[in-house]
Amino acid sequence: MKTEVIALAKEAERGAAEGARVLREGGLVAFPTETVYGLGANALNGRAVLGIFAAKGRPADNPLIVHVAHREALAEFACPDERAKALIETFWPGPLTLVLPKKDVVPNEVSAGLPTVGVRMPAHDGALALIRRAGLPVAAPSANTSGRPSPTCAQDVYEDMAGKIPLVLDGGPCLWGVESTVLSLAGEATVLRPGAVTPEEIGRVIGKVLVSPAALAPLKEGETAASPGMKYRHYAPKAEVILADGPTPEARAGVALRLAQNSPGRCRILATEETCGFYGGQDCVIMGSSKRPETLCAALFHCLRQADRDGVARVVLEALPPEALGLAYMNRALRAAGFRVALPTAGEF
Ligand code: TXA
Ligand code: MG
Repeated sequence: MKTEVIALAKEAERGAAEGARVLREGGLVAFPTETVYGLGANALNGRAVLGIFAAKGRPADNPLIVHVAHREALAEFACPDERAKALIETFWPGPLTLVLPKKDVVPNEVSAGLPTVGVRMPAHDGALALIRRAGLPVAAPSANTSGRPSPTCAQDVYEDMAGKIPLVLDGGPCLWGVESTVLSLAGEATVLRPGAVTPEEIGRVIGKVLVSPAALAPLKEGETAASPGMKYRHYAPKAEVILADGPTPEARAGVALRLAQNSPGRCRILATEETCGFYGGQDCVIMGSSKRPETLCAALFHCLRQADRDGVARVVLEALPPEALGLAYMNRALRAAGFRVALPTAGEF
């Protein structure tokens, strides 16, 4: 299959029209959102949705998020309570997915057989134009091959999906670079996956919010995942990834330097403005500032993919305090590293 790429900056109208046509015919379209690129299908067509699982190599028990173009659409697919209504007033359109009891119109292929469904309204003109033009809810996971870092630009999508889908809408780089916050409201409000909308911000609207322990820890043997996606290996480039942790930025930099010096193959440190001065002579990319974790979130997946393109054997990431957007960053960094964390050894400082 030939994969066409339409640049929305030049051809927004044709992109939305073509995308809508493909969706209505039961095909797959990759499209930009403010978080990461999505791989969309008509959410009401179970057969079309199965195509997403095939193109990504995604396990069938991992449910998809339904994307809508207006707030009122939430009640068509799910059963919103007062908390949900207050949250969509505050955060939609935006990077917050709500998991709620689903309505029967949502096919089991979307919810992977669960009684709940995740719904979100993206804050991206290209995504909203596509959904509106199609006149359909769009089921979409991130547009990567399952297990790889999520795509944050059209080139990343093309790398994984060329020949497998007919159309990629290119909207340039994504604003946040990490996927939406997934908040379950099926019982007590619980953040299943941290993202740009933080637990603190959610708490200000609805009161108490829990954060799933799986946000920062691997599932224990025999434990079931509240969010099926959390049990799979994630965000992994081909390179080995290790997270350098420690009590201070200097301590973390010391660990990162040691990991680079001991690396059996070419190593790249994904550094911050604050720490890059420690890494003289090393292959080091500055992702952003640890004082602005959103800059690190925006660069992380892109840098992991770039490391593979450059043939790097080991990638070293620096840990951040898991607060506010640092929580979203650490959730991805830990998974990319397969929870391999290196700590300072005595005598290093
Ligand atoms: O920002 C995003 O959320 C992007 C863009 C494209 O919107 N989408 C995305 O989808 O990241 P995906 O499929 O890669 O991740 C969705 C996550 C998975 O971990 C999945 O298990 C969880 O949300 N999820 C979806 N529906 C759920 C449900 N009903 N109950 C619990 N977890 C659910
Ligand atoms: Mg994904």
